[in-house]
Amino acid sequence: MAVNNSKFVVRIAQLGVLALSVLFMGSIAAQSRDEQIAERLKPVGSVCLAGESCARGGASAGAAASGAVAEFSAEQAYQQNCQVCHASGMAGAPKFGDTAEWTTRLEKGMDTVVANAINGLNAMPPRGMCMTCSDENIAALVEYISGDAQ
Ligand code: HEC
Repeated sequence: MAVNNSKFVVRIAQLGVLALSVLFMGSIAAQSRDEQIAERLKPVGSVCLAGESCARGGASAGAAASGAVAEFSAEQAYQQNCQVCHASGMAGAPKFGDTAEWTTRLEKGMDTVVANAINGLNAMPPRGMCMTCSDENIAALVEYISGDAQ
């Protein structure tokens, strides 16, 4: 009986080793499959969106994709860069087209307000994080956001 039992234990141990090696082989296969998938996904991961500045190259995807310099649209640039804060008035951002709010802001003078938008002001990030916007683009955006409140 004791002999039978120890044989049984050895058998179980053998099965255990077999199972472990199967798992091990499986995980190697799974890993290389993951690597292949990662490799295939790579180009997607390095795509940068239109209007965003790309980490490498520096050109905007919109311009790169069309092969031409995209014409600046204040409406589009607002939607891509400024809306996230200026539509809701997040963190005290003056709301889009809120004439009263913008009239007060513009009392400092359009140039000062544009300079603040370019350089940043408290929670307002420099250029509203639009790294592809030129100073002229920012000026056009300020006119667009303020709805030309004077
Ligand atoms: C992360 C949120 C955020 C984004 C994105 C953002 N703004 Fe602002 N902006 C603010 C806040 C907050 C203020 C108010 C700052 C203050 O007066 O303390 C502000 C203020 C301003 C002002 C008024 C400056 C002044 O002198 O009173 C202008 C102009 C402006 N933003 C333009 C823009 C433009 C243009 C964009 C997009 C290119 C943009 N903002 C994107 C948060 C943001």
